[in-house]
Amino acid sequence: MRELFDTRLNVDDRPLTKAELVDAAQSADVLVPTVTDRIDRAVLAQAGPQLKLIANFGTGVDNVDLETARNRSIIVTNTPGVLTEDTADMTMALILAVPRRLAEGTSYLKQENHSWSGWSPTWMLGHRIFGKRLGIIGMGRIGTAVARRAKAFGLQIHYHNRRRVAEEVEQELEATYWESLDQMLARMDIISVNCPHTPATYHLLSARRLKLLKPTAYIVNTARGEVIDENELARLIEGGKVAGAGLDVFEHEPAVNPKLLASDQVVALPHMGSATIEGRVDMGEKVIINIKTFMDGHAPPDRVFPAMF
Ligand code: 8YV
Repeated sequence: MRELFDTRLNVDDRPLTKAELVDAAQSADVLVPTVTDRIDRAVLAQAGPQLKLIANFGTGVDNVDLETARNRSIIVTNTPGVLTEDTADMTMALILAVPRRLAEGTSYLKQENHSWSGWSPTWMLGHRIFGKRLGIIGMGRIGTAVARRAKAFGLQIHYHNRRRVAEEVEQELEATYWESLDQMLARMDIISVNCPHTPATYHLLSARRLKLLKPTAYIVNTARGEVIDENELARLIEGGKVAGAGLDVFEHEPAVNPKLLASDQVVALPHMGSATIEGRVDMGEKVIINIKTFMDGHAPPDRVFPAMF
């Protein structure tokens, strides 16, 4: 970016304050925010007329007020595709880790004075993954990549999506489509959240819907914390009404509900889904291509519109 543009970098790698964001929006032609930078209505209301492009470093654009950006003729782009496989890997890792008690096992052994006396038949029993029903919420790029992996692990693929996916994809995955999210939730062994966070998906897994889950069911979320009513999930896990969760994202990041952190039934990660060196380099390249294309007077390849979400 420094080679191509007159670039101001946030070299401290920390979220910018509101005042710093406003300052950037008043002086830069292009902003490159991440998930931690909220480019909301208030920031955009103070943006200068020179701001023409928000090239988000990330696929999810819920940190940007898309409607206000459009009303102010500011183009928004994201970085789709390049983090699909990494995020699907992390999702699969959580699908495996939670029922098989991976984090519990390793933290037990790492305790200073652990009392493990050797293998025994009933020690650390989890639940079988093979043959179970996986319900994927959001069958876009990442959801489909999760389904491919999960099928190879012998899971039965079910999904809920705004639209049914192409017949060939359903056949390849032997996937069952559920128009009713409620009905799917009540029948699954593992739920994976892979939809974007939009006004329509905020608390999609509401208190009411979470209560539809079987008490033996697990939830994995590598999408956005806001899709799940986190307090209710924590309460249900604590009460034994939901078996456990694998969470890479949280409703109020960086805060995490302490009940979730205290639970042995929860594997919690600090938003690491796309955290590979390869993925982050690819994301950066996409950002640069979007800016350069726009600056050269063309439509940037990864433009997003409010109607897409
Ligand atoms: C990124 C993500 O780390 O791209 C996304 O939507 O959630 C993550 O993979 C983050 O968004 C960077 O802004």
